Amino acid sequence: MTLEELYLKAKKQLIKTPNSEPNFEVMSMLEFFFNITRQDFILKRKNKIKQKEVENFLKLISERANGKPLQYILGYWYFMGKKFFVNKKVLIPREDTQVLVETAVELLKNKNNVKILELCVGTGIISIMLEKLLKNPKIVGLEISDSAIKCAKKNLILHKTKNVELIKFNILKDSFMENDFDLVIANPPYIKSGDFSNLQKEVQNEPYLALNGGKDGLLFYKKILKNFRKNLKTNAYIALELGINQNKNVESLLEKNKFYNIGTKRDLNNIKRVIFGAKSVTTVHTKKSLAMHI
Ligand SMILES: C[S@@+](CC[C@H](N)C(=O)[O-])C[C@H]1O[C@@H](n2cnc3c(N)ncnc32)[C@H](O)[C@@H]1O
Repeated sequence: MTLEELYLKAKKQLIKTPNSEPNFEVMSMLEFFFNITRQDFILKRKNKIKQKEVENFLKLISERANGKPLQYILGYWYFMGKKFFVNKKVLIPREDTQVLVETAVELLKNKNNVKILELCVGTGIISIMLEKLLKNPKIVGLEISDSAIKCAKKNLILHKTKNVELIKFNILKDSFMENDFDLVIANPPYIKSGDFSNLQKEVQNEPYLALNGGKDGLLFYKKILKNFRKNLKTNAYIALELGINQNKNVESLLEKNKFYNIGTKRDLNNIKRVIFGAKSVTTVHTKKSLAMHI
């Protein structure tokens, strides 16, 4: 079988797979498996492939057809144009999370040497991008999963990140003592536990630990807003990613826990995806820009 024949056969197999993009996905898998570029594919498409390689490649295609996300097959994915390692124990980076990173940059852009506390670090995409985009920040990241910490550490090395410290920590249980942060930021698990079985097959392949937000999806917001306000300086902020239609409930939780000047930001699908607030009502410096987004 030639490389081109393998491409066509694999594509045919994926065409029936819901939520797949056969052209793009088969090409990405060929690039990964044979360590070639798209250019190489064109030049080598008539080359014969060994039977064993054909079989192994088609095994990957079957895994994909059975709902394994492409990102777990490749072992990496992209976020804000940068490559990050992923594996089946961590949440795959989502485009929506860019809104959270951009919000943090907007809130902190006029400050140098800020201290940031990221909760629920996962692959580390948020902390790593914030280090790239801010001036000399110091970032502490808390995460419960050993596998996620291991993956995030690989990403810190990949990106030569020097100012991010990762700590194994259960944010639902333990109290964190440092109290001089300029920002607490998190993309916490926010899917209602009862909704898990309705999610598309690929999402169900992602770790339950990274998705499960408890019965009402709000468990983490309640804990974070109650327990991590004390870790902020007076003129500091909190910024959280939101699930669909969670903005009203989380806004009430921010108010209840004495956060002020609350704003939200929408993603590309016009969904309110990020909520943020100031610890102090007198943090007027951002009031104007915050108000614009409400
Ligand atoms: C929605 S994922 C976010 C990952 C990453 N920050 C991102 O935006 O792609 C939530 C993360 O929270 C972690 N997590 C779940 N429960 C936790 C807990 N009790 N304490 C700390 N981290 C927790 C999960 O392991 C997972 O990595």
